[in-house]
Amino acid sequence: MAKDVSGIDAIGRTAFAVAALRAAEHQAQDGLFSDPYAGHFLAAAGVPLEVPEGGADFAALMGTQAVVRTRFFDELLLRATAAGCEQVVLVASGMDSRPWRINWPDGTEVFEIDQEPVLAFKDRVMAEHADRPAPGRHAVAVDLREDWAGALREAGFRPDRPTAWLVEGVLYSLDASAADGILATLSELSAPGSVLAFDHFEIVPSLRAATDRISPDLTRLWRSGPTDPGAWTARHGWVPDVREVGDVAADFGRTAHPAFGDGPAAEGHSWLVSAVRTD
Ligand SMILES: C[S@@+](CC[C@H](N)C(=O)[O-])C[C@H]1O[C@@H](n2cnc3c(N)ncnc32)[C@H](O)[C@@H]1O
Repeated sequence: MAKDVSGIDAIGRTAFAVAALRAAEHQAQDGLFSDPYAGHFLAAAGVPLEVPEGGADFAALMGTQAVVRTRFFDELLLRATAAGCEQVVLVASGMDSRPWRINWPDGTEVFEIDQEPVLAFKDRVMAEHADRPAPGRHAVAVDLREDWAGALREAGFRPDRPTAWLVEGVLYSLDASAADGILATLSELSAPGSVLAFDHFEIVPSLRAATDRISPDLTRLWRSGPTDPGAWTARHGWVPDVREVGDVAADFGRTAHPAFGDGPAAEGHSWLVSAVRTD
């Protein structure tokens, strides 16, 4: 049944673009993951699964990145929780359905942070479509520019316990100082043994042109985020492992768009980063 999305702002609606790429992958015969809920989010929001008018270049540039990162982070979070992270925090979780679709170890607490209208929409859709409970899930409706650490603690988060953090699909909509503030806060909340994962990419000319073809308003959402993910995370006390999305894609038998990476057509980088906290 259709749900009201009028309270969800432009940045919040980008979550539906990711859901569309995941829904398509879910339907693919050789998909890298299964996400049966992505299509429900789209249907409830009235967003078509098909690539929108003018969106073919964007889908070509971002499609592989989105599905490869999803699989990569699924595996990484499962490894982190199996290795002792008792809490998972999905920062800017959007239409990420991991609280339901991942088989977390018993007792894992999964916190989702996003804007209130986004999480309220998600709750309404999942109340209708979830085919399994998510007992350890906590929705934390707060703006990341506000005291989100306080809201997270109030929801039951324990900074003395190792945590797996996922910051997916959001850094490029933040300026460098906002991104730095979020990393500083989550680093302070990270006990030894915590794991951090995020994706980031440079807003290359092809990508700007592709989003302009959908809507210049979409292009205006792009910011720089951090410029050197490895040095950035190390500065905040993490031991990072930075990979090009093309290399991870190759591990999964996929090919990333040539605009990203080190090849002759490359315009910039697209990274998948994992990091551990040892002290
Ligand atoms: C492109 S979506 C990515 C969602 C999800 N991580 C994924 O990969 O499917 C970006 C998300 O960031 C959230 N977001 C952006 N800025 C935010 C802020 N200041 N506070 C809370 N959430 C924010 C949006 O509401 C949106 O859900």
